[in-house]
Amino acid sequence: MAARILLLGLVAVSFTVGLASDPSSLQDFCVADKTSSVLVNGLACKDPNLVQANDFFFSGLHIVGNTSNPFGSKVTPVTVTQLAGLNTLGISIARIDYQPWGINPPHTHPRASEILTVLEGNLEVGFVTSNPENRLITKVLQKGDVFVFPIGLIHYQRNVGSTNVVAIAALSSQNPGVITIGNAVFGSKPEIGSDILVKAFQVDKNVVDYIKSKF
Ligand SMILES: *[C@@H]1O[C@H](CO)[C@@H](O)[C@H](O)[C@H]1NC(C)=O
Repeated sequence: MAARILLLGLVAVSFTVGLASDPSSLQDFCVADKTSSVLVNGLACKDPNLVQANDFFFSGLHIVGNTSNPFGSKVTPVTVTQLAGLNTLGISIARIDYQPWGINPPHTHPRASEILTVLEGNLEVGFVTSNPENRLITKVLQKGDVFVFPIGLIHYQRNVGSTNVVAIAALSSQNPGVITIGNAVFGSKPEIGSDILVKAFQVDKNVVDYIKSKF
């Protein structure tokens, strides 16, 4: 009986872990075949005999991102889109550049936790826990510091120094996805009705329409 309960517990734990990241591999690799029209959860595999070293390779994270935009930051992603060998491996990486006081606006990754390390500069990071607490957990990071954003939670970063910040983020999905809150809520196509946003945010319609005009 006790063994059976333990077994059930283990099944429950492994089920939860299984849902928290990309599925595990059933073979050494599955380099994405971007020419395939076969639809699977992920991308179809290239013939392993045709795979080359360059299928597992990306060059470019030494390049400084262009932060001349309203947010003052630039994400350079390396997901399965840029690196076909990541297909089915459950990981990806990104370089993020921030100009002084630049932000990476509040967003969430629907399919990944993110572990971020600061290579240069001082970076404020934060994430908000789910309802009903919506507690903000925030910290200022310095060079060499590491911080984790748990899967699905809304998070942001802000350069709080007078020098540029460079950070590297690793993510637990080949295709983490990004939902930027402002763009998704106020800039969807077609739009979410202003009457809905008026009630949701408890503001006047002209406020909603003004924010919508920014996206
Ligand atoms: C950076 O981006 C801005 C805005 O898109 C553009 O005007 C500028 O030429 C870019 N700078 C470089 C060095 O590419």
